[in-house]
Amino acid sequence: MTVSSSATQADTGPAEICAEHLHKSFGGTVAVRDVSFQVARGEVIGFLGPNGAGKSTTLRMVTGVFPPTSGRASIAGHDVVREAILARRNLGYLPERTSLYSDMAVTDYLRFVADMKQIPAREVTKTVTWAMGATGIEHVSHRLVGNLSKGYRQRVGIAQAVLGDPSVLILDEPTSGLDPEQVSDIRALIRGLGDEKRTVVLSTHILPEVEMICSRVIILAGGRILAVDAPSQLERRLRPYKEFAARVVEASDVLLTSLRTVDHVAEVVVEAAPADEESGAEGTRILVRLEHGFDMRREIASKIVDGGAGLLELQPVVMTLEEIFLKLVGETHESQRS
Ligand SMILES: Nc1ncnc2c1ncn2[C@@H]1O[C@H](COP(=O)(O)OP(=O)(O)O)[C@@H](O)[C@H]1O
Ligand SMILES: [Mg+2]
Repeated sequence: MTVSSSATQADTGPAEICAEHLHKSFGGTVAVRDVSFQVARGEVIGFLGPNGAGKSTTLRMVTGVFPPTSGRASIAGHDVVREAILARRNLGYLPERTSLYSDMAVTDYLRFVADMKQIPAREVTKTVTWAMGATGIEHVSHRLVGNLSKGYRQRVGIAQAVLGDPSVLILDEPTSGLDPEQVSDIRALIRGLGDEKRTVVLSTHILPEVEMICSRVIILAGGRILAVDAPSQLERRLRPYKEFAARVVEASDVLLTSLRTVDHVAEVVVEAAPADEESGAEGTRILVRLEHGFDMRREIASKIVDGGAGLLELQPVVMTLEEIFLKLVGETHESQRS
C-alpha cells in the first residue's frame, strides 16, 4: 500500500487507475480541469472536496460514463473509452445517485446485474451469494429493494459494484444521506473490501471519513487538484505544529514558562478571548504547539496541575475541512501570484 506523500508511484508495477490531464466542460462551464493522478493496486484513496468541486465528474470520466472533453483514463491498463469493455470488466462502480430497481427483490436485482455484467450463468448464484455475504445483506435477500432502509439500499448498491469481484471499486459518496450508525457500518464495509489486491476510490466531502479509510487523499476544489497526500501528512503540511488547547483557571507567566520547558513544545500562546463572550466558558485557553509526531498531553497536564493553575480541559485542536480548504486555496493563490 502506498502511503508516501509523493504523487508519483513507487515501483509497484503499473498503476491500476491512471488519469491523465482530464478535462470536462459542459457547454461554457468547466467542471474539471487538467486532473491527473494514479492509483496503485491495493490502495484505498479518497476524493475529497466541497459540493461542485468536480468529484463526480472526474469519477464519471474514469468509469467511462462519459468521455472527457480532453485527456484520458485507464483502468487496469485499459483505456476507458477505446477499450471500454475490458476496462469495465475490472471495475465496480457505485454512482452518486443509484437507480436501483426498487420493485425487484434483492437477489433478483443482483442476478440481473450479474447478467448485465456477463458473468457466466453457472457462476451467477455463487457470485451473488458472495456479494451479499461481503456486504451483509443475506438476511434481506428476498425483500424488495424499494422497501429497504437507505443504509441497506446503499449496501445493495455496493453489492452490485462488487459483483464479479472487480479489482477496482469506485464509490461516489457511499455514505451520503445515511444516519451515523449506517455511516459507520458502510465505512467498516469499505475498509473490509479494500484488501491488498483491490483498489478502492471513494469520494466524500467529509474529512474524517478519508482519515478513517484512505491511505491517500486527492483534494479537489473548483475542478482542480489542490493536493495529493496521506491524510496525516496533509495536516502536517498545512500546519507546522500539532496543537493542543488547555483551558486553565489562571494562565500565569510562570505557567507559560514551565509549559515551554516540556520536551517537543515549540510554542505556547494564550488565545485571545473571544470578543463577544459568546462561549461563556470559564478560564483562559492556552495553545500548546508541539512538533509533529509527539503527544505530550500527560506532561502538559502535570505542569498545569502541579503549578496549581487549575486544569479545566485539555484537547487536541484538529483542523476542520473548511480550514484545510481555506489554507489550500490560499496557498494556490499565492503560488499563482509568484
Ligand atoms: N451534466 C452536467 N451538466 C452541466 N454541468 C454539470 C453537469 N455535471 C456537473 N456539472 C457541474 O460541474 C461542476 C462539478 O460538479 P460535480 O462533479 O458533480 O461536483 P461534486 O461531485 O464534487 O459535487 C458543478 O459546477 C456542476 O454544476
Ligand atoms: Mg458528487
